[in-house]
Amino acid sequence: MMEYRKEEILLKAEKINLFFGEKQVLRDIDLCIKNIVRPGVTQGQVVSLLGRSGIGKTQLFRILSGLQKPTSGTVTGIDNKPIMQGDMGVVFQNYYLFEWRTIRQSLELAAKKNPQLKPTDIKDQIDQQAQLFNLTEHLNKYPQQLSGGQRQRASIIQQLLNGSNFLLLDEPFSGLDVIMLEKVVELLLKVSLSDELKTLILVSHDIETSVALADTTFILAQEDGKPGATIIKEVDLCERELAWEKDVKNKKEFANTVQEIKALL
Ligand SMILES: Nc1ncnc2c1ncn2[C@@H]1O[C@H](COP(=O)(O)OP(=O)(O)O)[C@@H](O)[C@H]1O
Ligand SMILES: [Mg+2]
Repeated sequence: MMEYRKEEILLKAEKINLFFGEKQVLRDIDLCIKNIVRPGVTQGQVVSLLGRSGIGKTQLFRILSGLQKPTSGTVTGIDNKPIMQGDMGVVFQNYYLFEWRTIRQSLELAAKKNPQLKPTDIKDQIDQQAQLFNLTEHLNKYPQQLSGGQRQRASIIQQLLNGSNFLLLDEPFSGLDVIMLEKVVELLLKVSLSDELKTLILVSHDIETSVALADTTFILAQEDGKPGATIIKEVDLCERELAWEKDVKNKKEFANTVQEIKALL
């Protein structure tokens, strides 16, 4: 049994409702992400938000990241401060990068916004991250010269250099082949191990990959007869001993949990 404690609240969404005109997309969403502390281990949180296609994940993602205001409800961070646009690193599904800048120029721009990075350290930081993410030989290229996987990695580094403690990724596993999928999983684990407070929020419809990576999974789905999607269940993967283990996919409890979630979506 791995030892851990849940401590202070890092992010809290309360009573989130979202309407487009008459149409309710999200209803009464409450979710709370706490700092999980493991004695002797530096590790952040990995939270996944699962739901079927069209249910409202991207809308909730935009609200959690401060990019969009809900019709009602609040999103707050540490010390109950409201989350503002720019507080979070955001990796969109289409890996948005500046098309007219080289990867290095985009990364420099991101690094300059990070108050914790000294200007003299920026070049080293970029080179180090590029090495880690296998992008060294692509730094002087433009986004359109990169493959989808390379764009995704560049986009992740760009957000890491920003220095925010939250990294939100919308559908980070879609459109990847098996080998690339493994690499992205490995890379996200590396990111979560880089810092005690780093929190990754993965928005996905890929149940198995999300459960394998996360310590907590929130299920977004529709409730019988009620409009809009809401969090119908929070699955604590630490409690089920499915967090932080390398070969988690071979466990019986893993298969059970995946089945349980499938039945809910
Ligand atoms: N600007 C908009 N106006 C009206 N409806 C929208 C708008 N954007 C999204 N929606 C609707 O919100 C719902 C949820 O969409 P989305 O969050 O993209 O789903 P998911 O990411 O889970 O696939 C969909 O039914 C979609 O049609
Ligand atoms: Mg989406």
